Amino acid sequence: MNVILFGPPGVGKGTQGEKLAGETGIKHLAMGDILRTAVREATDAGIAARAYMDAGKLVPDELVVAMIEDSIIEDLSQNFLLDGFPRNVAQAEALNQMLSRHGLSIGRTVFMDAPEDSLLERLSGRLICKACGFGFHRQYSPPSKSGICDRCGGELYQRDDDREDVIAHRLEVYKEQTAPLLDYYRHKAGFRMIDASGEMETVYAALKEAVEG
Ligand code: AP5
Ligand code: ZN
Repeated sequence: MNVILFGPPGVGKGTQGEKLAGETGIKHLAMGDILRTAVREATDAGIAARAYMDAGKLVPDELVVAMIEDSIIEDLSQNFLLDGFPRNVAQAEALNQMLSRHGLSIGRTVFMDAPEDSLLERLSGRLICKACGFGFHRQYSPPSKSGICDRCGGELYQRDDDREDVIAHRLEVYKEQTAPLLDYYRHKAGFRMIDASGEMETVYAALKEAVEG
């Protein structure tokens, strides 16, 4: 089954999506990770996307739609979990068209929510491994050695857009452009809403139940 995970910045889409994908063998397609790889590799799309991302703005739809389609069609036989796409109603419509072109469908659309103060705390304490991309949190899931990834020994860093001023802007962009997706999906088949304010294990159990139940 294919799954969409959506919700505000910092709600835990990446953390939970990665875990679910790891356990179930479905492909985790995180739009932010795809974009950050393109920026690092300085592809045309990455060069075009960079300024938007650094400012906490959405990258233009035509760019992200083309990138996610490339990732989906890499292996049409493998189920996927979309994290961070779609992020507005136009992208959701583009996704519908793309899926029907390829004979695919979405089985679950899961909305994750948590109060804004938790989001701020989670984003401002996040650390990411430069080498493998795994996420840590200074307080909630600290690495055993400061600044070093437990999984691969890589160096941990703070994302450029996890600065306080950029976080505030990302939350505004979320409210204006992504929150309307809730009304778009709420009455469609396969929609589920989960409380993502609890501890990681509790949220994961709720996500599994939402996807499998
Ligand atoms: P993206 O990378 O997708 O960022 P985001 O949606 O803002 O989401 P985050 O990655 O910040 O948060 P998350 O929900 O994955 O939380 P995480 O699991 O890491 O996008 C970045 C940028 O790319 C955008 O601003 C935009 O410019 C561009 N972009 C991306 N998609 C686009 C699109 N479709 N269209 C246009 N532009 C696009 O968790 C956060 C922290 O909290 C971690 O440290 C984690 O350890 C901790 N944590 C997680 N869960 C818990 C818990 N239950 N309790 C305590 N701590 C927790
Ligand atoms: Zn690592």
